[in-house]
Amino acid sequence: MKIAWGITGAGHMLLESVETLEELSKEHEVTVLLSAAGEEVLKMYGLYNRVEAITGGYYQELVLEKDQKFSYPLAGRFSLGRYDLLIVSPSTSNTIAKVINGIADTLITNAIAQAGKGKTQTLIVPVDLEAGEVQTVLPSKLELELCQHCQTCQAAAACPQDAITPGVEINLLKCQGCGGCQIACPFGAVSGGKKIFIRMREVDVSNTKKLDVLEDVDVVETPGQLLKIIS
Ligand SMILES: Cc1cc2nc3c(=O)[nH]c(=O)nc-3n(C[C@H](O)[C@H](O)[C@H](O)COP(=O)(O)O)c2cc1C
Repeated sequence: MKIAWGITGAGHMLLESVETLEELSKEHEVTVLLSAAGEEVLKMYGLYNRVEAITGGYYQELVLEKDQKFSYPLAGRFSLGRYDLLIVSPSTSNTIAKVINGIADTLITNAIAQAGKGKTQTLIVPVDLEAGEVQTVLPSKLELELCQHCQTCQAAAACPQDAITPGVEINLLKCQGCGGCQIACPFGAVSGGKKIFIRMREVDVSNTKKLDVLEDVDVVETPGQLLKIIS
């Protein structure tokens, strides 16, 4: 199958999405589309290289928002019905809100709109599925209560991206998620993959429910379920 897989800027279910994408790419031609935020967030979680490693070649490209300018010419493939399936996993609340309002001003929202016009099915894994608390993971984070304000910050010295201001914060836009800082700090003052609970907003959950009205769009609860559906 020819599959297009869109990744938006959500940390929630991101690792599971990349793992599922890696599985699918073993048997199918997969083009990967990254929203601008998707590219940033993949890097923060140290997953960008894994996506880059499984892409390359015609219909197996890694397509970046910034390379598609404002008219998203690549999305023309969807209106022409060139793909058998479009998957968006994970999908942010931002992307869902745009989609249900017919807005198509990003690479991924444009792909979904054009897939609808080309009668191509879209499977969306939304992060905001049900109201209530949901556990999610953070990228690298300075734990200031553990920081000993060393004269030479080992974590900062170990960072190849110069992303750490000692005793202050990690600049996530520079961070590539390599995790070197976590190993380097002798006081364990840098966490990675810390689990937190966040509350799903009612507006986002109700937007997700509205996806039902879109022709050819189906909601899938987890990335793992995609493998079963596709096989
Ligand atoms: C580390 C990090 C994790 C994020 N995780 C989520 C998330 O799980 N769900 C979400 O809706 N937005 C999340 N965001 C915010 C989105 O990236 C932001 O709303 C962005 O504008 C979405 O753009 P997109 O929908 O075009 O990808 C996260 C941002 C950061 C920096």
